[in-house]
Amino acid sequence: MKMKEKTANGGGKLYSFKGVWPKIADDCFIAPGARVIGNVEIGSGSSVWFNCVLRGDIAKIQIGKNSNIQDGSVVHVDSGGFDVKIGDNVLIGHMAMIHGTTIEDYGFVGFNGSTMDGSYIEKHGMLAAGSLLSPNKRIGTKELWIGRPAKFVRNLDDEMIKKLSKAPEEYARFAQQFLQED
Ligand SMILES: CC(C)(COP(=O)(O)OP(=O)(O)OC[C@H]1O[C@@H](n2cnc3c(N)ncnc32)[C@H](O)[C@@H]1OP(=O)(O)O)[C@@H](O)C(=O)NCCC(=O)NCCS
Repeated sequence: MKMKEKTANGGGKLYSFKGVWPKIADDCFIAPGARVIGNVEIGSGSSVWFNCVLRGDIAKIQIGKNSNIQDGSVVHVDSGGFDVKIGDNVLIGHMAMIHGTTIEDYGFVGFNGSTMDGSYIEKHGMLAAGSLLSPNKRIGTKELWIGRPAKFVRNLDDEMIKKLSKAPEEYARFAQQFLQED
């Protein structure tokens, strides 16, 4: 049997699982090659880039407004009650693995970063590129964590916060340009 599929704005594919379809705001960009499955909600202005997989099968994935999940990233949930909650203006870099994690507004996961079940990133918290946030660890607001496993290294200064905060806006604009290529 073949799974039921629809094409999202941008060309990515949506699949229903156990009768539940993803709910995607009309102005989201879901790039070609991306697959969004089951219980997934994505808010206005957010984007899911080429070849991402967002699988909301055994729990829920919720993504707010103007957030971006960059190319090749995987977002999954866990049957132990670990939903994925991603707030507004969150940046998830290329090839990230987000598993059973909550990320508050303006949270940042660098490319090739991984987050494990029960982990949590507070507002403006940053996981550096290539870093691994182990189960149940919590990055506090404006904290930078680096390494595998990731450890707290320092608080981000105002200049860095300003720079990082602009990136989701730029991505949201970029996504609208890609949508116009349809
Ligand atoms: C964390 C980050 C901001 C750099 O922080 P920084 O403190 O300014 O880093 P520096 O360049 O001053 O390096 C300080 C030290 O940390 C190390 N370091 C820096 N980034 C590192 C990382 N991601 N992982 C491991 N070590 C890292 C450096 O090698 C250096 O080590 P040394 O003191 O032994 O020479 C950067 O690595 C990062 O992750 N950027 C995110 C990029 C990204 O993913 N963008 C999303 C896609 S658009």
